[in-house]
Amino acid sequence: MAILYESGKKTFTLQTQNTTYQMKIAQYGYVVHTYYGPKAEDEDFSYLIRHYDRGFSPNPYEAGNDRTFSLDVLPQEFSSCGVGDFRISGIEVKNHDGSIAFCGTYAGHRIYPGKYGLEGMPSLRVREEDHVDTLELVLRDAVTGVEAVLLYGVFEEKDIITRTVRIENHGDQAVQLEKIMSAVLDFMDSDYDWISFNGRHAMERGMQRIPLSFGVQSFGSIRGTSSHQHNPFAVLCEKNACEDYGNCYGFSFMYSGDFFCGAQKDPFEQTRVVMGIHPEHFSWSVKPGEVFQAPEMVLAFSEHGFTGLTHLYHDIYRRNLCDSIYMEKRRPILLNSWEAAYFDFNYESLIEIAKASSEIGADLFVLDDGWFGERNSDDAALGDWQVNEKKLPGGLKRLSEEIKRLGMDFGLWVEPEMVSEDSRLYRQHPDWCLHMQGRPSARGRYQLVLDLSRKEVQDFVLDFMRNILDESDITYIKWDMNRSLCNIGSAAAKEQGEVAHRYMLGVYRILEELTKEYPQVLFEGCSGGGGRFDAAMLYYHPQIWCSDNTDAINRLKIQYGTSFGYPVSAMGAHVSVCPNHQTGRTVPLKTRGIVAMSGTFGYELDASRLDEEEKRQCREMTEDFRRFQELIFQGDYYRLTSPYENGAFTAWAFVAKDKKSCLANLVITDCEANDAQRYMRLRGLEKRQRYRIEGMEGSYSGQALMQAGIPVPCGMKEYDAAWYYLTAEEI
Ligand code: DGJ
Repeated sequence: MAILYESGKKTFTLQTQNTTYQMKIAQYGYVVHTYYGPKAEDEDFSYLIRHYDRGFSPNPYEAGNDRTFSLDVLPQEFSSCGVGDFRISGIEVKNHDGSIAFCGTYAGHRIYPGKYGLEGMPSLRVREEDHVDTLELVLRDAVTGVEAVLLYGVFEEKDIITRTVRIENHGDQAVQLEKIMSAVLDFMDSDYDWISFNGRHAMERGMQRIPLSFGVQSFGSIRGTSSHQHNPFAVLCEKNACEDYGNCYGFSFMYSGDFFCGAQKDPFEQTRVVMGIHPEHFSWSVKPGEVFQAPEMVLAFSEHGFTGLTHLYHDIYRRNLCDSIYMEKRRPILLNSWEAAYFDFNYESLIEIAKASSEIGADLFVLDDGWFGERNSDDAALGDWQVNEKKLPGGLKRLSEEIKRLGMDFGLWVEPEMVSEDSRLYRQHPDWCLHMQGRPSARGRYQLVLDLSRKEVQDFVLDFMRNILDESDITYIKWDMNRSLCNIGSAAAKEQGEVAHRYMLGVYRILEELTKEYPQVLFEGCSGGGGRFDAAMLYYHPQIWCSDNTDAINRLKIQYGTSFGYPVSAMGAHVSVCPNHQTGRTVPLKTRGIVAMSGTFGYELDASRLDEEEKRQCREMTEDFRRFQELIFQGDYYRLTSPYENGAFTAWAFVAKDKKSCLANLVITDCEANDAQRYMRLRGLEKRQRYRIEGMEGSYSGQALMQAGIPVPCGMKEYDAAWYYLTAEEI
């Protein structure tokens, strides 16, 4: 058992291979958090907690005249609200009498093998090789009978602890849940940096590292999606932490809607981290006998710096998240029609692009936006999911059959969550979109959002998706979503504060049913590129289009930031034409290929316009990717330099788990004439192993390659790129 309750000490200790997490039932039944960090055996860490009389920090009534016991300073396993803890709270409950209070004390626990279940929401799955145990710890508010059941899933070998909370109303009055974080994590110190991944459309997940300072440093989303602007993944690390050294804590929220993540340094230089559904716009009624289940948070700790933390997340998300056959099977190399044609195509022009796609070795031709209804630009027809026969006579069936004849599979873009006002669907069901009674709705990209909190609207989406998938042979779906949610109201809901979360539950229901019913289909997530790049979406989609920005140099930063919390196999990345459509920059084709190869690799261009030399290079890149895909998708990922810090080049590598092979990549990001000799230092190799490098003479020890590096050829020009394939020399 990875979870031990010691009744004498009243401690709960959660052990994974390399970490220990501990809490204890303290005086008056308050549960305090005592430790999370490197593995420690047989220790009761509550000796670390000292009690002092702190001015202006109240004492719970039960503590009588003991002025040294205060919820305001104790490290707690989950916070109360309204009763004397003034730090950022994990919960806010509005009781039937209008009071806002929750004060949870220990009311029981259960430890059992296996993992707790989460209905209707994504959560980590347990695989054959896993030993997972669950702790359910009940905190009860004695006045209202409301319980917060804290759930812990301990993945022993994988050094992962999942957390979530279930609110149960055992009282006889309804309460209104105004805020519920999936986890609260208190630390007794505060000398940390706080890392988040922020951006905007077409420039997502830029890394920001700031010193934790007094007050709350928070970020989140109230856009109804996890968002381009802030990602639901954060790292708290020691000041001296770097790629391969230092204590790092990871917080990954498995949710695709509004979220909040905050870290607070309190006046006594302690830290509290909370993460959960964003409380703004959220309010949930929990009647007697009812339950509210919060989404899951995936927690990890590594004492081996960012790389150690990254490897924990990459490994668990590659193995324990998505059930698609494409997690094991080789993924198809696709050519997507968006940047090739936008809305301007017909049957003949698509076939021309498709023919050329097959010549450069693509496995899959994907028809993007514009194939349905009167969709000739982005201001109409969302919701009218019948093929536009004027553009595509014979429909998708004829097109897909022809693509098949060309030796490729056929894939299709959809944006099922949306409706255009200029559509038959909207004219028939104007109340099927999210809206607030009597208030005109803001449009985004001209469109409105379907009210997927309603079952009949979910069923409509399921039906048309089934029709599309049953009608022709489609092996891939790009599931797009192109606006932020606002005016979030539902004609069918009594409690409008529930609509945003019910919307997400609706999306999850649809994706659950479709991915189960069509296991042969590869679903790729997308939201204007990477606006919904989160662990919850990766539960359904093995891959997500990482960004609408296909500029290889911008992508270095986007993919770098994304790599901290998400595996490379999840990052949709394509080669596009130059000058790049988003930035106007021109970058060698080889470089575009190398950057796209550090993702799912594909093309986002009109292959029929490539010249013979470009086609040859593309064919070569396609073959290279086929050759290295397993190493790239299954190997350990190492960031060798940061695109934010190293002026000369950006480098990264994939090392096979057995350390017998490695693919190292570099892109020259800044070039000076008559430049200094520079070296790319590798990581993750076997020190004493000798490696051959394809295209180079001799062999080199892992030690030399890691400590001294590979010389970067001086003649390389700005934006040139190179890859180095290393294989272990047989002894
Ligand atoms: C946004 C996506 O990110 C693009 O790749 C493309 O599919 C467009 N939508 C189509 O409207």
